[in-house]
Amino acid sequence: MCGIIGIVGKAPVAERLVESLKRLEYRGYDSAGVAGVVGNSVERRRAKGKIKALEEVLAADPLVATTGIGHTRWATHGAPNVQNAHPHSAGRVTLVHNGIIENFAELKAELAAAGRVFESDTDTEVIAHLIDAELATGLAPIDAFKATLDRLTGAYALAVLIEGADNLVLGARRGSPLVVGEGQGEMFLGSDALAVGPFTNRVIYLDEGDYVALDHDSARIFDASGAAVTRPVRVVPTSAVMMEKGNYRHFMEKEIHDQPEGCQRTIAAYVDALTSKTAVPGDVDWARLERIQIVACGTSYIAGVVGKYLIEQLADLPVDVEIASEFRYRQPALRPGALVVAMSQSGETADTLAALRYCKAKGMKSAVVVNATESTMAREVDVVWPIHCGPEIGVASTKAFTAQVSVLTAIAVAAAKARGTIDAAEEQRLVKVLLEAPRLIAEAIGLEDALKDIAADVAKARDVLYLGRGPMSALALEGALKLKEISYIHAEGYAAGELKHGPIALVDDKTPIVILAPYDSWFEKSASNMSEVMARGGQVIFITDTEGVKHAPEGAKVVVTAPASDPLVSTLVMSAPIQLLAYHVAVIKGADVDQPRNLAKSVTVE
Ligand code: F6R
Repeated sequence: MCGIIGIVGKAPVAERLVESLKRLEYRGYDSAGVAGVVGNSVERRRAKGKIKALEEVLAADPLVATTGIGHTRWATHGAPNVQNAHPHSAGRVTLVHNGIIENFAELKAELAAAGRVFESDTDTEVIAHLIDAELATGLAPIDAFKATLDRLTGAYALAVLIEGADNLVLGARRGSPLVVGEGQGEMFLGSDALAVGPFTNRVIYLDEGDYVALDHDSARIFDASGAAVTRPVRVVPTSAVMMEKGNYRHFMEKEIHDQPEGCQRTIAAYVDALTSKTAVPGDVDWARLERIQIVACGTSYIAGVVGKYLIEQLADLPVDVEIASEFRYRQPALRPGALVVAMSQSGETADTLAALRYCKAKGMKSAVVVNATESTMAREVDVVWPIHCGPEIGVASTKAFTAQVSVLTAIAVAAAKARGTIDAAEEQRLVKVLLEAPRLIAEAIGLEDALKDIAADVAKARDVLYLGRGPMSALALEGALKLKEISYIHAEGYAAGELKHGPIALVDDKTPIVILAPYDSWFEKSASNMSEVMARGGQVIFITDTEGVKHAPEGAKVVVTAPASDPLVSTLVMSAPIQLLAYHVAVIKGADVDQPRNLAKSVTVE
């Protein structure tokens, strides 16, 4: 997750770009850089490390420009050095990028074969070359930009300068956020409202797939199809900018939509995208480890259950997952050869903290998968695994859940490689699968309108059942938890195979039954369970993927088709549909989505 800023200004921009970058430093600080239009050319200034280093470069070699772009980097492709620092240039094009271009290796090979020479290891530089190549065919800047965007797979927010077009900054977003700021005879582009906050409080949140051409007085916005569109201008109170909901009604909705970028940032911290190898930080001897004990509460516990499926299956490493409030008060049989892993968004949950301390007192090595890296848990453990998804404000956890699962997925692959249960080629394949997850999550979020329609029906129900097998049985728990905590509808999540041992008695024609079944090794069994409930009048909401839909039994009341994915990441991809379903049910019911009754974000009492 990097930070970007662009200004088409009347007054000098170098200092203002730096001011914005300081506000964006929370997104990364491996290197920083700015570029500006100087006469007929574009000049760059770049530095390794924090913004302060860039300020020193600018003091020694000022950049005198009124139109420019800037970037603060959180390295994904390539070491954090000056050569890999943004902005990147090729021919007439200079640009900054936040995100990961998944097909950069193919594009780079194609461009290199056409004689183009690269100066960095980044995925970003290919975008500059692609735009430059399109310009060379005679296309206008906006058309060359669009032609390039159509060739990119992956996530991006971009700000682009073009030599010879000195009153122009181009921008685009897919999977990474980007806002336009409207000034007086000046226009701005930034990763968030905070970035443009010093210059304007009039902000336009671009939609997924939008691209934009800024000049002094206007922002021409186009959607992914190339059609000109208008997006609402919002006046953002300066004090609220940090906690801004953007175009969303609730933080929960925003945080659901934040997930592609959140997970991308998480994954980038646990794998090396250049070599397609895992890069899990911390000193853990996976090959010798005897057992993992996960302790957690609520949604964090459910993320742990998903982790158990993945780690045991891939790495043949035993994993116990236990609800911390139970664990701390029984006498669990623990051995020093095990690693205790606390899972906690806040890092402060009292029960989880107590369970963690109990294990430490027994001589176990300890780790925490955590969002708040300054929290008590983070300070007390041997190994901190941050989830990097940014602050989660909505009380119901969404983006922290998928970020936690992302970390455990990378750990599963790393442990499997270290224990010899997969070889180097399989590790590379799985890392590539993981790197594709943010794009698939974004596609799954695209199902929102369909889920909104389904929510209208579910909102009338008294009880809702969620069923799944394998990791989807954990997601069934999460679907039920999300629904009950924000809509106050009674919901149960079950492993679908348990259905006939009790819960099938709940099935009638008024109870919606959500079946989570991507096309994996459990699919046939889940399809049989679907037939069993339909035979008893059950109203099935079948959430599957593009493969599963071809093989599903007839008769579901409604079928939701998520993008197909490798089983390694199917929990990540299927999370958004259940979150969005719960969210829209709660909105229809008029519930207080972000602050449901009786709950708190950080549960520091037992
Ligand atoms: C549910 C939810 C809670 C938390 C639980 C643990 O949406 O948010 O169930 O997951 O209170 O909190 P942390 O992860 O902060 O330990």
